[in-house]
Amino acid sequence: MRFKQPLTKTLKPQFQDGLRNNHQNPFQKKLTMKTYRWGILGAGKIADKFCTALNFVNDSQVFAIASRDAINAQTFAAKHHADKFYTSYIDLATNPNINIIYIATPHAFHYQHTMLCLQHRKHVLCEKPMSLNSRLSSEMMDFATKQNLFLMEGLWTRFMPFTEKIVSLIADDAIGAIKHLQADFGFTAPFNINGRMFNKALGGGSVLDVGIYPIFLATLLLGKPSAIHAVVNKAATGVDESADMLLQYTNGSTAHLLSSIGFNTTITASILGTKGRIEVHNPFFKATDLSLILNDGTTKTFSFPHLCNGFEYEIEHVMHCLENGLLQSPKLPHSFTLQVSNIMDEVLGNLA
Ligand SMILES: NC(=O)c1ccc[n+]([C@@H]2O[C@H](COP(=O)([O-])OP(=O)(O)OC[C@H]3O[C@@H](n4cnc5c(N)ncnc54)[C@H](OP(=O)(O)O)[C@@H]3O)[C@@H](O)[C@H]2O)c1
Repeated sequence: MRFKQPLTKTLKPQFQDGLRNNHQNPFQKKLTMKTYRWGILGAGKIADKFCTALNFVNDSQVFAIASRDAINAQTFAAKHHADKFYTSYIDLATNPNINIIYIATPHAFHYQHTMLCLQHRKHVLCEKPMSLNSRLSSEMMDFATKQNLFLMEGLWTRFMPFTEKIVSLIADDAIGAIKHLQADFGFTAPFNINGRMFNKALGGGSVLDVGIYPIFLATLLLGKPSAIHAVVNKAATGVDESADMLLQYTNGSTAHLLSSIGFNTTITASILGTKGRIEVHNPFFKATDLSLILNDGTTKTFSFPHLCNGFEYEIEHVMHCLENGLLQSPKLPHSFTLQVSNIMDEVLGNLA
């Protein structure tokens, strides 16, 4: 089976060369009967990176893109070798030849755009966060399930090899019981009242944009918190500029998480256990390196260079789910997305 093999075996050979020489432009279509024809809804920054990875993974194709701007649609389609481009999102959603649509618009539109695609019977991979709150996400999930369609939040970190390594180290009891977790993601976003970072109508703020990553890690490793304490600072536009979060768990462990769009943080994570700790190096949300440091000082470092840009693992996983007729990802099920979303709801409830 294609997806049971190590990822290196599924790479297009021309990209294996491309990895060694960044100056090559080795794109060459290699489509098969099993090729998944992806539609891209919104042609912005993240869609550009995602399509680079789509063209890297075997059996996936950037089939069609939709942008509200005709020139952007045409330029983006040409860059990523899409067969078709549209200036209306509905035209993309109604194309019968598309297998799955990737929603790459700002958070505030995820609900509307995902529902549009589900209504037209398309499977959906929706960029993180799934929506602005758990109530909307829950509606999207219920509708997808009712329609018998696949829906997953594009939390790409879940599928990266470093995350799998953390999960396996903890399952192997390498650091003993987890007592504390620290993770942060903060950067200085240029202040632009119209940009999606600071604009309330576009779903701006640090928690939904970057806080989701530390919250994801804590949820993956520690589950549902029993109490959440948060200090949330507001930007001039009313969105949360930063959030300092302390999560408590029934077994006594704690997590200290930080998000910001107003100042830089180290963008690292530490998982502290009774026998040692795991340090996830910068940038922890798409890390390639981590260290295992035992209490006696023994240190091992693990390195997982991305094969493309990090989206390749998520894409492969989604294709695996589709191939197996799954409506939810076993690694990122709806219940997990809702758990993370519930924490974000509660933290943002502290925004005065
Ligand atoms: N996984 C990751 O690492 C990662 C990183 C960054 C962002 N993201 C997520 O991806 C999503 C998009 O982020 P981005 O940085 O790519 O955003 P962006 O470049 O600012 O915008 C994405 C696209 O959304 C479309 N759009 C539709 N309605 C819009 C409106 N009213 N205002 C502005 N844009 C509108 C536009 O596409 P057209 O004009 O082409 O139609 C725009 O180019 C966000 O939800 C974000 O959380 C994920």
